[in-house]
Amino acid sequence: MFSRARAQMPALRQEGHVHLYFRVSNKAVTIPRTHGPPAGRRTSHHTCYKYGPPTEGRSKEGRDQLGRLLGEREMNELLISGAQLITLAGPERSRVKQEMRELAILEDGAVLVRDGVIALTGTTPDARRLTGPDVRRIDARGRVVMPGFVDAHTHPVFAGAREDEYEMRAAGMTYQEIAGHGGGILSTVRKTRAASEEELFQMALPRVGWLLEHGTTTIEAKSGYGLTVDDELKILRVIKRLNEETPLDLVPTFLGAHEIPPEYRESPDEYVSLVIDEMLPRVADGGLARYCDVFCESHVFSAEQARRILSRASELGFQIRIHAEQLSSNGGAEMAGELGAVTADHLEWIDGVGIDSLRANGVTAVLLPGAVFNLGLDRYPPARRMIDAGLAVAIATDFNPGSSPTPSMQMVMSIACSQMRMTPAEAITAATVNAAHTLGMGSRIGTIEAGKQADLVIFDCLDFRRIPYFFGVNHAEVVIKSGAVVFDRTGGCRC
Ligand code: NIG
Ligand code: FE
Repeated sequence: MFSRARAQMPALRQEGHVHLYFRVSNKAVTIPRTHGPPAGRRTSHHTCYKYGPPTEGRSKEGRDQLGRLLGEREMNELLISGAQLITLAGPERSRVKQEMRELAILEDGAVLVRDGVIALTGTTPDARRLTGPDVRRIDARGRVVMPGFVDAHTHPVFAGAREDEYEMRAAGMTYQEIAGHGGGILSTVRKTRAASEEELFQMALPRVGWLLEHGTTTIEAKSGYGLTVDDELKILRVIKRLNEETPLDLVPTFLGAHEIPPEYRESPDEYVSLVIDEMLPRVADGGLARYCDVFCESHVFSAEQARRILSRASELGFQIRIHAEQLSSNGGAEMAGELGAVTADHLEWIDGVGIDSLRANGVTAVLLPGAVFNLGLDRYPPARRMIDAGLAVAIATDFNPGSSPTPSMQMVMSIACSQMRMTPAEAITAATVNAAHTLGMGSRIGTIEAGKQADLVIFDCLDFRRIPYFFGVNHAEVVIKSGAVVFDRTGGCRC
């Protein structure tokens, strides 16, 4: 019995030298850890990620170019074979209804990566015939290989943490009560304002490590803990720098309307005017965000205030995402439809009118069940009803220090399946291809198809359903970003 299990799941073998990918690198960046090392890691106190060449003043594109120049004559092919390959091949758009269950799986599948791009997918015997002897190989028998997770809703740049509030909630206080006493978002705002840009960057780096380790290769990242012109710009510049200097892709969203700052408590409309007249133009001029978001909720921004901000944002060229109907029903989803938002997020309190509005206007519902779980609430968004109604549904972590302090899309999948009755296949679709389309990146990421960026995760499990089933486990074993191994728990981290 024991030996059969071992035969089924051999140790992951890497032939050749995966770390060759970093020969283009002349700088190793060490991400400090603020938490314990994952099981099985040999290093005891830090995680190493070797990035591309020094990044000061150099864009990711520039880095890729340099990589091509330096690596041109080097063998630059990687074959991953023997896997349960979850390709998600299909139409280049969000998947709906039954399509969300169709993962286009190749059993004994192989994927060939060339120069950071997926060159082909097929069965292992076919791929072996088509590849030369020089290709670097990863034997992924007994493993699941999937596209990297796309986390379409995060708040990763903040100072401090809120474990005190976590404890207060355990003692019976609600999220809203804590916020009403000056805690909640405002407590993080105070600490974030006090932190320098460099400090915020350093604090965010380990979180980027967490995300990559858990198999996330692209995130949407919001500002929103500054709430002054300068502090919001500071956060957006940190997001830009994280995008440039780490392997993770971050897509920026301006969320100046995340909370009403204390200095405007008596005159919230004046803060709305500040967002509209000063923040939005500065963010647009600096090219610092692609999306604009508003926390539309009673005691925060009303639907009318949200509409003012988002209409101006649209005029300035931002696309729209909305925190809608998280804690109460207020017509936020309907408004998202009317404004042509790309996404409406949370939606625990959405009603039939809201669902119709999202569907009629092609708005993707981004569901954040980790926040419901962590806040100890019992009202999850009606995912089944949404999928059955034909809405495009994505899931995301909502990674933030208050309502959902988790970087793990695997955990979010578990909650989506057990609490919202999504099937594991639907959860995977929602966490990859559908999320990618909300970021306008569906032609580049989110599936494993020839021509796409090689953002891949090898999971140490036999069947994709085990990813949510064994919950709380980080199944990610190797994470590959644009063809480069950025996390390797098999011992491949040579630092
Ligand atoms: O998405 N809802 C508003 N914003 C976050 C919570 C942020 C916080 O509590 O710090 C959310 O849940
Ligand atoms: Fe959020």
